[in-house]
Amino acid sequence: MKTVISPSILSADFADMGNAVRRLEQCGADWVHCDVMDGVFVPNITFGQKMVSDISGLTDLVTDVHLMITEPIRYVEEFVRCGADIVTFHVEAAQSVAQTIAAIKKAGAKAGLALKPATPVDAVAPFIDGLDMILVMSVEPGFGGQKFNPIVLDKLRQLRAIGYTGLTEVDGGVSLSNLPLLHECGLDVAVMGTALFKSANPAEDIAKIHQMR
Ligand code: DX5
Ligand code: ZN
Repeated sequence: MKTVISPSILSADFADMGNAVRRLEQCGADWVHCDVMDGVFVPNITFGQKMVSDISGLTDLVTDVHLMITEPIRYVEEFVRCGADIVTFHVEAAQSVAQTIAAIKKAGAKAGLALKPATPVDAVAPFIDGLDMILVMSVEPGFGGQKFNPIVLDKLRQLRAIGYTGLTEVDGGVSLSNLPLLHECGLDVAVMGTALFKSANPAEDIAKIHQMR
């Protein structure tokens, strides 16, 4: 399968978001990755439902919402109503992971579960049957522009070894230099912030990644 590119709009100019998303679409992006942070689960605050709603209203790209908030069950239904196609929340942030997955699905979206670099694959193992996606963080969640942690390569292999068959997504420091390795480990969805927004030719980069076999 070709690697799906989900650019993280955390790297965009928030005052010019509409144009940023349109440009990503023109460059061949597949999804748009929306990082929602509450200043509690992570030491940073970004945006909420309204931004997701406005973005999903202007693009046909798959709206990929990454919730970095405590007790995400309080908000998942609303994010789905605002146009999220996939809602991913952190295993470390939810009291009842199973109930949160069920709430996302009941609301009509795909459900993803994320794990921080220090969280072992064992933490998500009990839930693999009900998940559409597992997001393996290759940096501490909270900020763009951090260094890629290769621990994710092993985690991708472990997920397949325990029989997980859904989508895998890696987020944090992903670039053209580590994508071949990620691709070899069976990565499905690459989140890219800094690497795409700082690139001289994002369309060419996306085309190159799509061609990886
Ligand atoms: C970090 C966010 C990422 C971030 C990725 O907590 O979840 O999506 O924007 O940005 P880069 O690609 O710059 O590491
Ligand atoms: Zn993210």
